[in-house]
Amino acid sequence: MIVIGVGCGPGMLTMDAISRLGKASKVYGSERAIEMVRKYIPAGCEVNRIKDYSHLDELPSDAVLLSTGDPMLAGLGHLGDEVVPGISSMQCAFSRLRLPLTKAVVVDAHGKDQDAAIREMLEEVARGRIPFVLTEPGFDLEALAKEMTSAGIDCTIIVLENLGYEDEAISFGKADHLPSVSSKLYSLILVKDG
Ligand SMILES: C[S@@+](CC[C@H](N)C(=O)[O-])C[C@H]1O[C@@H](n2cnc3c(N)ncnc32)[C@H](O)[C@@H]1O
Repeated sequence: MIVIGVGCGPGMLTMDAISRLGKASKVYGSERAIEMVRKYIPAGCEVNRIKDYSHLDELPSDAVLLSTGDPMLAGLGHLGDEVVPGISSMQCAFSRLRLPLTKAVVVDAHGKDQDAAIREMLEEVARGRIPFVLTEPGFDLEALAKEMTSAGIDCTIIVLENLGYEDEAISFGKADHLPSVSSKLYSLILVKDG
């Protein structure tokens, strides 16, 4: 099975991904992923919206599975015999902020223990890295601020919402003045001050 990265938002699909999609006969993906590539899906291709993510390893071998962003950044790449890269939320975020990816470290707080993720973020900042955090709705920014304050770590907290979409928004804050979050799709970056 081929897993194709469709980018983190509209227009973030590579030419290679477009060409592979053009040859697909069966496409599987989330609603968001399908919407991003719909115009490149050839006529007659079967399009299946995934409702149950627990049986994706049973898809037919000629299936093309769509993965938002890049499939190897907490995506569906592990299911593919072949993986076609897409522009990830991390690449997009670091480009928008003109931050060096050479200092980046990924912290996955999506569906994971949030306290452990917060500890990891702060350890990485203290080490001089720039953590890029995959979040989920309900991520507790106040808990992050509390840990930052008690660890004596001063950093700028950056919320990146809906990267690549028309309503993309980037907000900056501090532990004592948190940035606002108004959407469900967002990531975080911490940059140490000074
Ligand atoms: C399961 S991870 C998948 C990441 C994806 N494979 C990628 O390369 O961007 C989902 C998380 O990625 C982040 N994310 C994905 N797309 C985003 C976007 N357009 N804007 C901001 N964050 C995004 C969010 O933190 C979201 O909860």
